[in-house]
Amino acid sequence: LVLILDYGSQYTHLITRRIRQLSVLSLCVSGTNSLDSISKLNPSVVILSGGPHSVHSPGAPSFPGGFLEYAEENGVFVLGICYGMQLIVQKLGGVVDVGEKQEYGKMEIVVEGECGLYGAEAAGGHQVVWMSHGDEAVNLPEGFTVVARSLQGSVAAIENRSRRLYGLQCHPEVTHSPQGMETLRHFLLDVCGISADWKMQDVLEEEVKVIKGMVGPDEHVICALSGGVDSTVAATLVHKAIGDRLHCVFVDNGLLRYKERERVMSTFESELHLPVTCVDASEQFLNKLKGVKDPEIKRKIIGHEFICIFDEFAIELEKKLGKKPTFLVQGTLYPDVIESCPPPGSGMTHSHTIKSHHNVGGLPKDMKLKLIEPLKFLFKDEVRKLGRILNVPESFLKRHPFPGPGLAVRVLGDVTEGNALEILRQVDEIFIQSIKEAGLYDSIWQAFAVFLPVQSVGVQGDQRTHSHVVVLRAITSEDGMTADWYYFDHKFLIDVVRKICNNVRGVNRVCQDITSKPPATVEWE
Ligand code: XMP
Repeated sequence: LVLILDYGSQYTHLITRRIRQLSVLSLCVSGTNSLDSISKLNPSVVILSGGPHSVHSPGAPSFPGGFLEYAEENGVFVLGICYGMQLIVQKLGGVVDVGEKQEYGKMEIVVEGECGLYGAEAAGGHQVVWMSHGDEAVNLPEGFTVVARSLQGSVAAIENRSRRLYGLQCHPEVTHSPQGMETLRHFLLDVCGISADWKMQDVLEEEVKVIKGMVGPDEHVICALSGGVDSTVAATLVHKAIGDRLHCVFVDNGLLRYKERERVMSTFESELHLPVTCVDASEQFLNKLKGVKDPEIKRKIIGHEFICIFDEFAIELEKKLGKKPTFLVQGTLYPDVIESCPPPGSGMTHSHTIKSHHNVGGLPKDMKLKLIEPLKFLFKDEVRKLGRILNVPESFLKRHPFPGPGLAVRVLGDVTEGNALEILRQVDEIFIQSIKEAGLYDSIWQAFAVFLPVQSVGVQGDQRTHSHVVVLRAITSEDGMTADWYYFDHKFLIDVVRKICNNVRGVNRVCQDITSKPPATVEWE
């Protein structure tokens, strides 16, 4: 295992991804975890991430006392990246100070002499790397050598081979460092001797084992199936582990897409052979959302209602089975966990709260069911791979992601006002069908329409109209953490806009959202 200790860098999740792309298992936890919890994970390599702090600022986060000694005694390799490198330097008695010149963006470095970190062939060579730092190492602790410098002369990479300690001032995990992937590969495989043999089959077997261990032989489990990739893969996985002690429920919350309920239910039955109960709770959800405009409150209400329904479903099952189900399965993914900012001490990373994803942030404290989240450490593309091993139909695996709070985060403001939801469903359906007909569905990561609570003036059939504005959004992305907008050709856009205005009453203006993430997010709320 390669363990990443997170000190708050916006790139930390990328380190995790890049390492997994090398077929090496990596996991990211908060950098302030105790030595006990780090050693329990038994890592072969620990990477200390970058972060926004200075090692001198009050409360600057750090690894626990005794960590470097633990690493040395147990043969654990340690690589510090940016802030992580500065931590190593400072803790071992070197000097970190504000650099004469700050280095941000693309820089060139020169690899000095023969070193372990870059390999013998790299010696004397130049590399373009991504830097983002104000502080720098000005005096190295005893036993360390500089193995690369920037053209400005600052320390770019260090190592102490006999103590297995390494440091990079630049960020190998970002694509702006063209040789970054090779640097990580060389370090992990050649220097640390890690085998690149982590496979999805291993994840599957491990998860099945964990679930079997968690759920007692006469315990029952509920699964909330949304019809999306994540919950479908999660349910199929749990079904493999505990068979028909799994009871799935599909909730119609009134915030679903066009004919979603009928389509999803028929696929569950005919293709997945999973027993699913459909609960129509649309009135309950929409009543609770009446008049609510704040996006975070909407998300919290929806999260809460979901859990209430699962609790009710559990009571019904208890009557049928003679015992209460004890667990709830959720298809929570790694990016959901990162972005919902888990509480300190949970052991997870601690980046800034952006949105309360409903399956994480909205859980009430008195929830009666224990959670099983078998995909909690996987990214979306990894879940698809897992789904393929589980024989989940390709039609399911290729579906674009759909957020738990559904159309509520795509109707801006009060979702119950007028016939916003109905208009949005029709526009969305036309957009998605057009994308499918044009053969573009699989090249787009996610596409959907958004309803704006504003009206604009138009002219249709010689008549003045005062109707709604809708937005089309299509993005490409690797994992939803960052995204680019998808470039449609003009003919496609002209046809879609014409179809929408001709077929959907109440819409006279169609816009396209061409904002990437960041600065925007994928969903509008
Ligand atoms: P954002 O809007 O956060 O979206 O940039 C990133 C990805 O996550 C999806 N999303 C959600 N998924 N529950 C989910 O299960 C949620 O509350 C939620 N909010 C956003 C979004 O559709 C995109 O794919």
